[in-house]
Amino acid sequence: MSQVTTATLIEMKQRGEKIAVLTSYDASFTRVLEDAGVPVILIGDSLGMVIQGQESTLPVDVSDMVYHTRCVVRGRRNTLLIGDMPFMSYSSAEQALTTAGRLMKDGGAHMVKLEGGATQLETVRQLTSSGIPVCAHLGLLPQSVHKLGGYRVQGRDEEAARIMREDALALESAGAQMLVLECVPSQLAADISRSLMIPVIGIGAGPECDGQVLVLYDMLGITPGKPPRFVKNFLEDADSIADAVRAYVKAVQDGSFPGPEHCFQ
Ligand code: KIV
Repeated sequence: MSQVTTATLIEMKQRGEKIAVLTSYDASFTRVLEDAGVPVILIGDSLGMVIQGQESTLPVDVSDMVYHTRCVVRGRRNTLLIGDMPFMSYSSAEQALTTAGRLMKDGGAHMVKLEGGATQLETVRQLTSSGIPVCAHLGLLPQSVHKLGGYRVQGRDEEAARIMREDALALESAGAQMLVLECVPSQLAADISRSLMIPVIGIGAGPECDGQVLVLYDMLGITPGKPPRFVKNFLEDADSIADAVRAYVKAVQDGSFPGPEHCFQ
């Protein structure tokens, strides 16, 4: 695999090649993911739950993200690395610039991800005009779990769907170079993916997104409790973790994951 850049991902979208993304938080898993053909790795603030054992992503701070991004960088050769901006680390455009600077300069991330729509447009503009690639995140926003009243599917009613479509277009116009859609009805996610030039990566957002992302520990079946509907355990039918990751990449590329049983209407 040659160096993956934001340009590579646009070309993949244009060619109709699906993008398989996974989270990683350390060097060893990063090597396994890269060897299995994963082109993009997200150092997600999901690390708060799967690494730190917290109940949500809210307690994660910037120094946690910098530490894990550095660990991932040591296992990486060619993958594009996206670092999550943690809760309350981008409440103003100025604070976002400081956080993104730390994730990229101290951590080594190539792109930063932030949650939110219309309220984040000015921040996205300022980050991108400072040369910082941004991945936006719409739908279920885990950092807003208390405001949303739980981990629920978003965009089911007409008004919410309209706002999400508008937010997605506005984020792209503001300079976002990738969009994650989480827990969104498949048809809405398909419409948004088709209307944007930038790659749209789904998690619980149906098969017609330009790529898929899962939390690594979820797809290996080691997250405690009942997994969300959109998760598939790829280790169940595999001989090793490397095999499971290869099966995930293949299933995303050939469109067999996510199946109807992983999607929302
Ligand atoms: O933190 C994370 O792992 C994420 C993914 C679930 C998209 O944001």
